[in-house]
Amino acid sequence: MFDPVSRPETMERITTPELAEAFIAEQVEALRAQIGDGKVLLALSGGVDSSVVAALLIKAVGKQLVCVHVNHGLLRKGEPEQVIEVFRNQMDANLIYVDAVDRFLDKLAGVSAPERKRHIIGEEFIDVFADEARKLDGVAFLAQGTIWPDILESEAGIKAHHNAGGLPEDIASRFELVEPVRILFKDEVRVVGKALGLPDEMVYRQPFPGPGLGVRCVGAITRDRLEAVRESDAILREEFAKAGLAGKVWQYFTVVPDFTSTGITDGKRTDAWPVIIRAVNTRDAMTATVEHLDWALLEKLTMRITSEVKGVNRVLYDCTPKPTGTIEYE
Ligand code: XMP
Repeated sequence: MFDPVSRPETMERITTPELAEAFIAEQVEALRAQIGDGKVLLALSGGVDSSVVAALLIKAVGKQLVCVHVNHGLLRKGEPEQVIEVFRNQMDANLIYVDAVDRFLDKLAGVSAPERKRHIIGEEFIDVFADEARKLDGVAFLAQGTIWPDILESEAGIKAHHNAGGLPEDIASRFELVEPVRILFKDEVRVVGKALGLPDEMVYRQPFPGPGLGVRCVGAITRDRLEAVRESDAILREEFAKAGLAGKVWQYFTVVPDFTSTGITDGKRTDAWPVIIRAVNTRDAMTATVEHLDWALLEKLTMRITSEVKGVNRVLYDCTPKPTGTIEYE
């Protein structure tokens, strides 16, 4: 029923659990046929695409899949723990957890140019993953969460779709690629993920940039300011969930710029950072409008963030649509 390599224009959109089940059954068979008794390596970030790929492969080949989760220190609060809980504890996957926090933060110390930061994060990620791949013997396959828009964009010359995730040739040439969600659009990946039993927070999670919180800790990243980004983001997500906004607003997060201002706490002068809240809606991320947040919610967020997050004395709400602002700050 499904062509594993190319998506015919006539293919029915996978919108129901029944269609998802049919897709899963066919993919599981195709994966078993391709992989046999070989081993498969997967970089598992915890994002929707890699999580669905992992769940499909666990169903198809179980412990023949080796997942590598790299914690680069720029993940949201609770994310590495959730990856371990879902995949290692609940799905009994073969999961290698790599704590690369110091390695990334040391490389990023003092680097303030946004493109340089992105470049370092991308390169370092490949290095860490390649190091893990070199340690493993007898792995013939590399799984990737490539989806259909990636293929279309790369065919249209908009964005290069890196085969083997930009891995160095000595590593990339060792593997045959496995791309089990390659013919799917993003909304279909979510339907399939749901049918595979992944938790809603994983399946419906908002977009999160590859460089993670690194682009929200504006300028040179320091550990204390990064912690302020992570803690304020956790409070924002918690309050949005309580207010019923979690699945409704397209993307929302906090940013901590690298300047301080004067404030007062318990009668004492403070010099502390502001936290900027951003909440936007968009169809395709090319343009975006700002969510009209309820004033009482903004006040509650301000109270919580200024009292619970270390080093913060102000909260600002970003009213800028795209254009003129981009969604992220770097
Ligand atoms: P901007 O800031 O360009 O963001 O308006 C548009 C959307 O893309 C996401 N984004 C990224 N996603 N790697 C990603 O995977 C990146 O480097 C990256 N930069 C931005 C951003 O979160 C927003 O949803």
